[in-house]
Parts: sequence; C-alpha cells; structure tokens
Amino acid sequence: MSNSAKLEEIIQFSNVRFSYDRGQTLVLDIPKWQVHRGQHTFISGVSGSGKSTLLNLLSGITAPDSGELLVLGQRLNDLSARALDRFRAQKVGVIFQQLNLIPYLSVLDNILLAAYFANKTQKSKLKTDLQHKIQQLIEKLNLPISILSRQASELSVGQQQRVAIVRAMINEPEILIADEPTSALDQQSKSAFLKLLFELVKTTNCTLLFVSHDQSLVEQFDSVVEMSTLNQIAEQAENGALNVY
Ligand SMILES: Nc1ncnc2c1ncn2[C@@H]1O[C@H](COP(=O)(O)OP(=O)(O)O)[C@@H](O)[C@H]1O
Ligand SMILES: [Mg+2]
Repeated sequence: MSNSAKLEEIIQFSNVRFSYDRGQTLVLDIPKWQVHRGQHTFISGVSGSGKSTLLNLLSGITAPDSGELLVLGQRLNDLSARALDRFRAQKVGVIFQQLNLIPYLSVLDNILLAAYFANKTQKSKLKTDLQHKIQQLIEKLNLPISILSRQASELSVGQQQRVAIVRAMINEPEILIADEPTSALDQQSKSAFLKLLFELVKTTNCTLLFVSHDQSLVEQFDSVVEMSTLNQIAEQAENGALNVY
C-alpha cells in the first residue's frame, strides 16, 4: 500500500529497560517498538508479563531505567514531573480494569475532574465550555443525559464502563489506553462495549492500545502485540516466576 510511507509513528521505544528495584529484576526489556497514529493495538500476555507496566511507561507514569521513549514526538525523559502530568492529562486517555470512577462524585463531576487535570480551569467554566461535548459523548455511548447527575456508585458495571470511556475521551486524547477494561463484563456487554469504543476511536482517529486476556477480541484489532515477543525477558513470567495480576 502506498500510504504506508505516510504512517506517522507516534510511539517509539528504543532499548527501553525497566525494573521496580533499580535494575535487579528487569521487568521490561524492549529493544524496539513502534505504534503509528490511528493504529488499534491488542496487547496480550500472561499475568505478570509487564502489560500494565508497559502502559505506565508510555503514559509517563513511570520512567525507564534506560533507553528512549518518544510519545507524540516528545521525549518523555525530557519532561519534568509537572509537565508529564499535563502531557498525560491532555494527550492520553486511560480506562482501567477497576474503572476508577470516584464513587461519591456525580458522573458529571467525574468527567469534569478529568477535564480539570488537563486544563486547570475553574469547574464552572469547564462545565459551560464542555456541556455540549459531554452531552454528545453521553449520547454516543447510549447513556441517558440524566445519568450525569447520578452518583457514580449507583451505576451498573456496564454504565460505569461507558462513563469511563466518556471520561477518558473528554480531553480528546490522541492516545487511548485501556487496561483489561472488559474483564468484569459478560460476553454480550463486552461486545457492546467494544463496538462503542471502536466507533469513538475511529471517528476521532485516536490511537488505541488495548490490553486483554480475551483472545476472542483479537480480530477486531489491526495489530497484535504478544508480550513474550515484544519483551525480551517475558519467559520469566511464563515460567511462573512472576504472578501479580
Ligand atoms: N508497583 C510494583 N512494584 C514492584 N513490582 C511490581 C509493581 N507492579 C508490578 N510489579 C511486577 O512487575 C511485573 C509486571 O507486572 P505488570 O506490569 O502488572 O504485569 P501484567 O499487567 O502483565 O499482569 C510483575 O512481576 C509484577 O509483580
Ligand atoms: Mg496488568
């Protein structure tokens, strides 16, 4: 395909090594890895193979021991902690396995909080500025507008999942990271969740990195990364030496 030359690599790892204990036990050793803009990548691997650690590295939550990490043209090593926080809030949307909505806040406030981290603007102003966008996202995800005033703790898991998508997309991130977001869902809700997620990432040309154990989802992605191939130390995990989920 002639357009392959135009693919913009927005994530580039080179010789990235990471440990939680100052180099004693390497968790990740990734000589090379690239992701291009708009790619939908499925990341699979056994528990403990470093999937979540990989996502934390590319969103700048943790820094590598050595090597270089370029995300959206930015060398993450060059950013201060504060600049990294801002970078992450503005450019990277995240959906976790434990959706991490704040239970005692309303759905609207959960969404506004994510917007606040990216903009540091007063809540009342954010509310006015984002009202239309929030309504659009809520509708796109087949949620009723009335859900905005409900407390997050009152929602079903399926609803929380969709609110987590809205929250992750409110700042129009260029990269969306989803770390085992479907593991609490039954098969039917899983399909519905993925369908909505894909509709959204496709219309916004967002780059998706999706971690899951569920191989039945693979065919919906245009790229598959197996940790044991990507990560040069992954055999340790498969031998059962590492086991944290
Ligand atoms: N905060 C942490 N401190 C120390 N070790 C950790 C921490 N988080 C994960 N690990 C270890 O790093 C390895 C990779 O973990 P993780 O990235 O969570 O794997 P996965 O998401 O594939 O299950 C595991 O051996 C795990 O025990
Ligand atoms: Mg994990």
